[in-house]
Amino acid sequence: MESSMKPLPLDFHRYLKSFELFLERSTEHQCMGKFIDEILPDVIASIGKKGSSSLNVLGVGSGSGKIDIEILGKIQSKHPGLLIHNEVIEPNPEHISKYKALVEEKCLHQNISFHRNQMSSDEYERQNKERNKSKKFDFIHMVEMLYYVESLHDTITYFHSLLQTNGKFLIIQTADDGGYHSLWKKYGSRFLSSYLFLDVHKALDEIRIKYQIYELSSDLVITECFIEGNENGERLLDFLTHVVDFRKTAPADLKEEVLHYLRQPQCSREQNGKVLFNNNLYFIVIDY
Ligand SMILES: C[S@@+](CC[C@H](N)C(=O)[O-])C[C@H]1O[C@@H](n2cnc3c(N)ncnc32)[C@H](O)[C@@H]1O
Repeated sequence: MESSMKPLPLDFHRYLKSFELFLERSTEHQCMGKFIDEILPDVIASIGKKGSSSLNVLGVGSGSGKIDIEILGKIQSKHPGLLIHNEVIEPNPEHISKYKALVEEKCLHQNISFHRNQMSSDEYERQNKERNKSKKFDFIHMVEMLYYVESLHDTITYFHSLLQTNGKFLIIQTADDGGYHSLWKKYGSRFLSSYLFLDVHKALDEIRIKYQIYELSSDLVITECFIEGNENGERLLDFLTHVVDFRKTAPADLKEEVLHYLRQPQCSREQNGKVLFNNNLYFIVIDY
């Protein structure tokens, strides 16, 4: 790592603030909503063990729970009458509090039980292995979180092993043709000491797990990043680079190169005076 740069994911509060702004400026959750409405119902139609009166669902890296709750809603409507036990793995306490508040606001307690594990997926795996525990799940999802695990291969292999008969595993991740891929392939090693994992489908090929992959388009408006001193622009830059205060702490040459590269066609396009960063997403569906 260069100069005084600090990784954003280690600063829970700033990560959450940058991520919230990223959501405001992008069509990320709308893109996920489209998948949940149009494709997910068929994916989840066959989950559940025959004769079982309940479904176990596991969300890993759930954030504030908005997408989890949309997924739970679809599972409920596809499997009316079944109880849902929903388990969450999320290390950021601020995200957990927001998730709890959302569940209260939507009065979801009547039909769904919630169990929250405030920890990383790696800690969850370690704890389970120490206790010789391996609860099975009918549906597991990892939405935009696999970048942060210790080993992509081990994490996917372990969580895949937790699938119940007929279970499904959904991974949502940035697409290969997206701006994150280009940016991180070029500069990732200079942003952080460890490289953010991006190539989920390659990892799946290597560990010989079959999957279906869908790609849906999404954009992030990054125009403010090019206005010196713009607070929102700085926060978005932090999220793009995963560095706290990137503009202030990055070496001048890196800052200049990144700001130049962000405008290149590998990352974005210009439309109606706005710079639109390609935030296309992959939706990867894995069977039991
Ligand atoms: C980009 S956010 C996505 C949040 C949510 N899934 C969504 O799409 O709105 C990444 C989330 O993964 C969580 N996270 C980071 N490292 C993690 C890890 N090792 N295990 C589990 N979750 C992690 C973060 O705290 C954050 O909530």
